[in-house]
Amino acid sequence: MTLILAHRGYAAEYPENTMLAFKEAEKAGADGLELDVQMTRDGELVVIHDEKVDRTTDGTGLVKDYKLEDLRKLDARFKFQSLPKKEQIPTLAEVLEWLSGTGMVCNIELKNSIIPYEGMEEKVIKMVRDYDLSDRIIISSFNHYSIVQSYLLAPEIEIAPLLSEGLYMPWIYAQSIKAKGFHPHWRAAPDQIITASLESGIDVRPYTVNKEAELERLFKVNCTAVITDEPAKARRIRDKI
Ligand code: G3P
Ligand code: CA
Repeated sequence: MTLILAHRGYAAEYPENTMLAFKEAEKAGADGLELDVQMTRDGELVVIHDEKVDRTTDGTGLVKDYKLEDLRKLDARFKFQSLPKKEQIPTLAEVLEWLSGTGMVCNIELKNSIIPYEGMEEKVIKMVRDYDLSDRIIISSFNHYSIVQSYLLAPEIEIAPLLSEGLYMPWIYAQSIKAKGFHPHWRAAPDQIITASLESGIDVRPYTVNKEAELERLFKVNCTAVITDEPAKARRIRDKI
């Protein structure tokens, strides 16, 4: 069965990368989450997509220039101002603590392509191990050097390269860096690439799949997982097939 991973939580209907979005994704029937990790000035791992807080909070500036206690004062509701209360930027620890009480899997994307956060891999791995979640986490990044480092530090935790462009044989590339799967943009994941990858024992989890016809195609070809902003819609389509 193709798993449904809720992209930035339930980003279509709730403030992305917040505890509210993650909890609602679980209620909507998602099998797992996808989330983005950046690091604060005092070295804390926080769940936010952009290097800057400007788009998704009422603050301004780079995450890396904030101390955690100041970052936590920001309101991450952004365009969802009608929600009754403020949402904080979650720490990765907060999400993993909650996740460990659920049956969900989680794709942690290291956002370290633009800012190469020193020691991020070690910190993420330590936290995953502390919460005993090694078998439910996939570490991904557009920074493939970083995921190889992660694999060398913790071979028991799965890694997956993010691929924004199509490769002729992405499964061979994944195997060459010891990844058990890869996460392509959905346009770079035609049926024949998915089938050849699965036949080679390599998992494929395309992002960010929101169109009904694409979700249906990926469920039908038995893709490993889809990463979607709309877990409820995906669930409805999967349940019909
Ligand atoms: O993990 C897949 C996807 O999240 C990568 O793109 O920009 O949404 O983090 P982005
Ligand atoms: Ca992401």
